[in-house]
Amino acid sequence: MKRIITILLCIAVGLAVLGVPAAVGAKVTGKLEIVHWWTAGGEGEALDAIAALFEANYPEIELIGASVAGGAGTVAKGVLQTRILAGNPPDSFQVHAGMEVRAHILAGTLEPITDLLDPAVFPKAVLDLCGYEGEVYCVPINVHRPNTLWVNKEVVDELGIAIPTLSDFNVFVAACEKAKAAGYVPLALGEAWTVNHLFGSVLLGALGPDGYRGLWDGSVPFTDPGVTLALERMKTLVGYANEDHAALSWDAAAQMLVDGKAVFNIMGDWAEGYFKAKGWEPGVDFVWASAPGTRGSFILCIDAFGVPKDAVNKEGARAWVKTIASIEAQDIFNPVKGSVPARSGADKSLYDVYLIWSMNDFATSELVPSLAHGGVLEALAGDIGDIINIFVTKPDVAGAQRSLNQAAIDAGL
Ligand code: GAL
Repeated sequence: MKRIITILLCIAVGLAVLGVPAAVGAKVTGKLEIVHWWTAGGEGEALDAIAALFEANYPEIELIGASVAGGAGTVAKGVLQTRILAGNPPDSFQVHAGMEVRAHILAGTLEPITDLLDPAVFPKAVLDLCGYEGEVYCVPINVHRPNTLWVNKEVVDELGIAIPTLSDFNVFVAACEKAKAAGYVPLALGEAWTVNHLFGSVLLGALGPDGYRGLWDGSVPFTDPGVTLALERMKTLVGYANEDHAALSWDAAAQMLVDGKAVFNIMGDWAEGYFKAKGWEPGVDFVWASAPGTRGSFILCIDAFGVPKDAVNKEGARAWVKTIASIEAQDIFNPVKGSVPARSGADKSLYDVYLIWSMNDFATSELVPSLAHGGVLEALAGDIGDIINIFVTKPDVAGAQRSLNQAAIDAGL
């Protein structure tokens, strides 16, 4: 008996070393449909890499990546909601940890998967955003850093712009002036959700981490002078952006840097994955800094996957989220995606100079929720997105601030 147990243990350890997930109950077969919105450069490659690992581990399953194009899930979330309401959810779907997954939990869409991950390897701050009342409902695959300023290195070198101080708002504005005078678009900007994304960083910069956090729990009203400052700064920044921004996806805006047309872009580090997919090298072709005013803070954007209660292939979905929780999967996905692992145990030799910077920043910064990526009350985030997009075409600071305050009241804050 002792011998049998020893042999079984050896097999289990062997499989763990090979990174093969242990069986998750019943046999895992059939089709497994996963809804996501990773269609841009870098994102597609990262998903393909993790899919290859999954298929190698579960050869009897057919993974179907049902992509819905549209950055930040702007389109996917609607498609998903329609399917969930019709009782026809995919077997698993991309969701942001934080208030976005909380809405699914409260609506009863997802089932607890607490048994599928080891809580000791995930930072509490991350796991808390994935669960509710002691249960975990989604597995985080990464941590993205939305408040990052991307810089075309060749152009700033040509213009003599010093990079280390660009996180200072006034220094950044002076750099934009210089870029504009030299005929460049200073700030590449995209469609509506990217404007809201930018506003998140600007609010954080104007209010600081405590004030910014307070906006989302109602302890700081939107009548705060920090919000006035944020709106004024937003007006200034949009004055340096490309006029056609409403028509551009986030990756088309990032491409303006690659093409040498624009100098800066404030975007999450999925842009890092995009730049690399376009052949740009971190530290050589592009450099980065905290978005103006936000040094010392890290906005959390965490992609995760859960298991819907009505999933057709529940065992397959459980195998998928269990795979995602493994360090092997996270170390395959994140170096390509431009994000850092959501858990401990990363092989740092696989991560480039930017990602090591982000890992350190994640470990040492104030962690704050994301406005545009599911970190705060969804209805409020939607209203703020509408208000700020009207604001950039008609910049009435007092009027926009009144509307923001009303939106927070409407959201129950
Ligand atoms: C975010 C998501 C990222 C990336 C980005 C652009 O919401 O968390 O993984 O996909 O949108 O679409």
